[in-house]
Amino acid sequence: MNTIKISPSILAADMSCLEDEIARAVEGGCDDIHVDIMDGHFVPNLSFGPDIVETLRKLTDLPLNVHLMVNNPLDMIDSFADAGSDYLTIHVEATNDVHDILGRISDHGVHPGISLRPDTPVERVLPYLDSVDIILIMSVFPGFGGQTFIEESYERIQKVAEVSSSLKSPPLISVDGGVVIDNALMLVKAGANHLVVGTAIFSNHNAVENIRRLREAIKE
Ligand code: DX5
Ligand code: ZN
Repeated sequence: MNTIKISPSILAADMSCLEDEIARAVEGGCDDIHVDIMDGHFVPNLSFGPDIVETLRKLTDLPLNVHLMVNNPLDMIDSFADAGSDYLTIHVEATNDVHDILGRISDHGVHPGISLRPDTPVERVLPYLDSVDIILIMSVFPGFGGQTFIEESYERIQKVAEVSSSLKSPPLISVDGGVVIDNALMLVKAGANHLVVGTAIFSNHNAVENIRRLREAIKE
């Protein structure tokens, strides 16, 4: 098992050959698959519904890490869990019932996760760290792939990592948005152990080589 997990975000994959894209990411040795769900309200973009999770479930045995960028996440938990999600991450800004929804996710036997936008104080997620299996720190404004990494994110990762380290079973510390070969090692040094990477993995239909270069970059 890799200590630092690499999670390709299929938002950046070529959908006309999704099966090949997944096969290349798996061959490259990624640890799970990140699936961005956007509802056109919480973020100004639309992406996939639960069907994509069902499709991916047929293409790989790797964990499917589903990132719900939606308002009213409670309405979507059952369908995304039934579709085969392994992790379901909701946004702290999207609901006032975070604890209830995390509980609902766990009831399905799915790993619960919490995420936050770059402009939300990290203090907002700290109370949930011992109730989740993944904390997904957004390092761009959610909605689109291929954006530039926001530098203030290092400090936010450090803060979350520090608090997590005192927990009995700390969550995965994930960073999502603008992760590239040039910042990967610094992110790991800040305390991230799960890197979500879209464009820098799927560009040029070259996931195998792109993942190899990422692994090389985070080698101590
Ligand atoms: C942004 C998504 C990210 C995105 C990352 O809203 O949550 O997962 O796909 O893509 P890159 O790595 O291209 O920034
Ligand atoms: Zn995402």
